[in-house]
Amino acid sequence: MSDDVDLAVVGTGYHTPRVDRLDVLSDQVIAVNTAGVIVDVVPDNGRRAREILATARHVARLAGSERLLPGLIDTHIHAPQWPQLGTGLDLPLEEWLFAYTFPLEARYADEAFADRVWRHMVPALLAHGTTTAVYFSSIHESSTRRLAEVCGELGQRAFVGRVAMDHPQGTPEWYRDVTATTGIDASARSIDDVLRFGADPTRVRPIVTPRFVPACTDELLRGLGDLAASTGQIVQTHCSESDWAHGYVLERFGRTDSEVLEGFGLLRESTVLAHADHLTDDDMDRVRARAAGVAHCPLSNSYFANAVFPLRRALDRGVRVGLGSDVAGGPTVGLLPQCSHAVTVSRMLEDGVDPRRAAGERGVPESRIDTVTAFHVATAGGAELLGIPVGSFEVGRKFDAFSVDLETPGSVLRQWDEVDDEARLFEKIVRVAASSDITNVWVDGRRVAGREVR
Ligand code: GUN
Ligand code: FE
Repeated sequence: MSDDVDLAVVGTGYHTPRVDRLDVLSDQVIAVNTAGVIVDVVPDNGRRAREILATARHVARLAGSERLLPGLIDTHIHAPQWPQLGTGLDLPLEEWLFAYTFPLEARYADEAFADRVWRHMVPALLAHGTTTAVYFSSIHESSTRRLAEVCGELGQRAFVGRVAMDHPQGTPEWYRDVTATTGIDASARSIDDVLRFGADPTRVRPIVTPRFVPACTDELLRGLGDLAASTGQIVQTHCSESDWAHGYVLERFGRTDSEVLEGFGLLRESTVLAHADHLTDDDMDRVRARAAGVAHCPLSNSYFANAVFPLRRALDRGVRVGLGSDVAGGPTVGLLPQCSHAVTVSRMLEDGVDPRRAAGERGVPESRIDTVTAFHVATAGGAELLGIPVGSFEVGRKFDAFSVDLETPGSVLRQWDEVDDEARLFEKIVRVAASSDITNVWVDGRRVAGREVR
């Protein structure tokens, strides 16, 4: 690894390496080597800073009104549902899948359509500060390969998963793997494709993706567990998302989702369990013991999950948690809004929602989180879940980051010197910043999006 400084970023920033603490990095120089790794974080007034700035190949000096933040890690997003963003949320999950989502996903047999969608989606996500995305693709190998190519080309860090689903009752016959064996074989080929076509196999990686237990036969689930073990790739699936999904698994197996997934070898280190609202305490302990974790999707859960995921409880029990948009079950892009939603739903869980109940019986005490914890989950928490060295500005991590301007003309985001301190500015950015306030986005130390070309 080279210690040559390729990029030096100078300015003030924030990060949240720990779950309940905001660290303000005032007037710092962050030095990044040619491999995209942070090699130094030093105050912008000493000898080392002068050395770095004298030798760095590129220097990005932020304006006084700009702040630097670690890149956002969307741990759960359905790429083929992008054209459905903002629509079709009137039905419960099990009907929504068959009425809207499977018909749309089936269209990705058309690789040209897929390419147009990916080339609209990936730049939009980058512009919102989403430096890492964990994608569910469709069942199609060619469109999935194309998604890896586009992420590779445009510089996003990504896990790209070809969806496997073969259950004759849980899927329509026009959108499924014909047999478990064909599904397992296609998923195995897709892993090789993503590694070959994603430009950089450390940045664009495959992920084994059984859609969820109701869409998969036992044989497919077992085969994909074996595939994860033999390839060493991580796994993602939906888990205990709604009353229906949770109840279906209990009825079919007499066990919870997490037990069933464990039995098929799918509950592994860094397995991403999307939603997981209905995990029991025992499930949480099982997930923690396996070093798997949850993609918390607060807005989507408000539509589909019939309950609020108890984020505070999960964190207190030591479960790894990242944040997810669940596009298009979640109808917003980017993770700053999801941070707000995570805070909001945690408050609703704590207070309860039915005014006819007495205040003391309405909610679940000590459920609330704040913007610092939400941002931790959206950055360092997601990185820990996935086992990737990003998510904060600590030496040794890759430099995935974005900067926000507090003085963008026409924006509601504003710094008021009379009343604002750094903690308030951080909170404002998390709750109020729009993609138009984002000035730079870097992945692996390379600028991949932003407002003006420097
Ligand atoms: N469960 C199975 N498939 C899906 C999906 O596409 N979205 C959500 N939110 N839940 C699912
Ligand atoms: Fe989902």
